[in-house]
Amino acid sequence: MTDTLQFPPSFTWGVATSSFQIEGAAATDGKGPSIWDTFSHTPGKVIDGSNGDVACDHYHRYAEDVGLMADLHVDAYRFSMAWARVQPAGKGAWNEAGFAFYERLLDELDKKNIAAHVTLYHWDLPQGLQDEGGWLNRDTAYHFAEYAAEVARRFGNRVKTIATHNEPWCTANLGYGNAQFAPGVADVKQSVQVSHHLLLSHGLAMTAMRAVGGSAQLGIVLNQWTADAATDSQADRDLAQWEYARSVQWFMDPIFKGHYPDYALRGHGANAPEVQEGDFDIIRQPIDFLGVNYYFRSFCSAETPPRQAPAALGTTDMGWEIYPQGLTELLVKLKGEYDLPPIYITENGMANPDHQVVEGRVADAKRIDYVERHLAALKEAMDAGVDVQGYFLWSLLDNFEWNSGYAKRFGIIHVDYATQKRTPKDSALWYREFIDMQRR
Ligand code: NOJ
Repeated sequence: MTDTLQFPPSFTWGVATSSFQIEGAAATDGKGPSIWDTFSHTPGKVIDGSNGDVACDHYHRYAEDVGLMADLHVDAYRFSMAWARVQPAGKGAWNEAGFAFYERLLDELDKKNIAAHVTLYHWDLPQGLQDEGGWLNRDTAYHFAEYAAEVARRFGNRVKTIATHNEPWCTANLGYGNAQFAPGVADVKQSVQVSHHLLLSHGLAMTAMRAVGGSAQLGIVLNQWTADAATDSQADRDLAQWEYARSVQWFMDPIFKGHYPDYALRGHGANAPEVQEGDFDIIRQPIDFLGVNYYFRSFCSAETPPRQAPAALGTTDMGWEIYPQGLTELLVKLKGEYDLPPIYITENGMANPDHQVVEGRVADAKRIDYVERHLAALKEAMDAGVDVQGYFLWSLLDNFEWNSGYAKRFGIIHVDYATQKRTPKDSALWYREFIDMQRR
């Protein structure tokens, strides 16, 4: 399959991580606490009782990690900035030592000729803002815009892209809907209001960063999926429509069309968000790129117990159905529904139970197969006319997988957490070879 898969020469090949999942140094050089520090230190919230205090110690090992990226021959690295590292309370004073870390990282990336793709918010809200209501408080959106403008001022000419948010669906639905993620609230009405404030903060940040200027392309990263009815029953079809409307269209429509999707709005009923006059004008900003994170499709069954997805290609260590054609279907569908800017696949990858290094090797053939199949599906969407500029494999390293702690491994590089030794897995060697082949 790989031999015949040829992407355009200008296509960007990258790897992705996020601050809380790899940096560690939770209280070093003036960093303030984030909601994930608080949440992970609360007993019972993370499966293996772990936290992000050390993680992959990337804060101290960033140079080694950039070296590993260079060994992979990637063009680009997607990472996030920890808001509480550069502005410990989420408002007020900037922390120069925090910014200095990201400068060192960017210097190192420059040396290796690897383009930086930055995310401003990958879930680690400064705890100080949470104490004032977090994303449920509309003011947080305005604080976020100030932080975004400051990053644009300092780095807007040094980085290739800046994304406002990573997967705001998760912040709203897992952080506030079912309490699986920080801050651990289970209240649907709150989660819908939070989603509105996240979208508002995206729009405010876009405006603030545009005012600063700079060469970076500005956009947002959304997790998306198609929603397939398990059977032809009306109930399953309604559920699929609801699932797609409340998840994908809920974030896409305000950004591209300036309103919430009717079907989802009606479905939310009394849980619909409070929207102030002018909010949609703020949210509906032209974006330079759309980041799409794709892992699985949504398989919708209204039966009890629900029918399970067929998973013809199996499931990952997260229990997620492996469904590459969903990526083709999703991208083609989006193209039909929206006036899209260029797309980056900002995340795609899988958890595999590769805990052990055996004679210097981690044989993760299943991951190679997963990535290969998703690249083929991506190419199919591109052949159908979808403008995709790059692909970022999640993840460079095994890391802190949120409420799964260190029990789930998404890396193409294995991390031994006791020694912090990094070992490229077979998938890393495969990815390098694949990238080399694309350039021949
Ligand atoms: C998406 C999230 O952005 C990332 O933080 C997470 O580790 C991966 N999905 C895998 O679950």
